[in-house]
Amino acid sequence: MTRSPPQPDPQPASLHATQAAPSMHMLCRQAPVIPVLVIEDLTHAVPLAEALVAGGLPVLEVTLRTPVALRAISLMARVPGVTIGAGTVLTPKDAQAAQRAGATFAVSPGTTQYVIDCCEDLSLPLLPGALSATEVIQLIDCGFDVMKFFPAVAAGGVAALKSLAGPFPQVHFCPSGGISQSDAQDYLDLKNVVCIGGSWMAPNVLQREERWGEIRQMAHQARQLKNGHHGTATKNRLR
Ligand code: 3PG
Repeated sequence: MTRSPPQPDPQPASLHATQAAPSMHMLCRQAPVIPVLVIEDLTHAVPLAEALVAGGLPVLEVTLRTPVALRAISLMARVPGVTIGAGTVLTPKDAQAAQRAGATFAVSPGTTQYVIDCCEDLSLPLLPGALSATEVIQLIDCGFDVMKFFPAVAAGGVAALKSLAGPFPQVHFCPSGGISQSDAQDYLDLKNVVCIGGSWMAPNVLQREERWGEIRQMAHQARQLKNGHHGTATKNRLR
């Protein structure tokens, strides 16, 4: 069996980017932590966003895991000071619906070329997920230099991220999955971590009981975490 000769590199998708959208690097630099939100009750969307922004966390990821998620994004997008993104974007349809709802960025726990292409077409900044060296290389090939690392704790946590810094010094990660206030600083101390994602400051039990003051306080605590390694690569304004 013969192999076909290597094809020339495709035009990096980054070249199609518009200049209007913020880059994922810029979004990830707004605060040390991006709250990852699972919203079950639409009436909680606005007070939740207000509490998090008041606590100092302006960039929010609403996961598309509940029936009200898209409507929650629409409401939260109007809260002053909020930058709202959609998480758990698994398909092009998710990305389209999220943008229509008002999301200004998308987060995916893993990545497919379909989602990458769709976000590119929509000029929707994407934080794509990668866990293994192979997945990181694939995303580098597509022009990304900031990636979600999920599920962070289960996949080796700080030690795994430290190891990835060796072959991929140009890549910055936003780890999430199992991180809490108590170990968040260990991640933020890594030179290849630009920010972290987590749900600990807005757990569903506090949302259900509408304890917005406590959520604001936990957001404030999270805001105090120090991120000295904000990452400087800005290859692509969409990424
Ligand atoms: C995510 O999608 O990033 C995670 O669900 C967040 O993980 P956590 O709930 O363990 O913080």
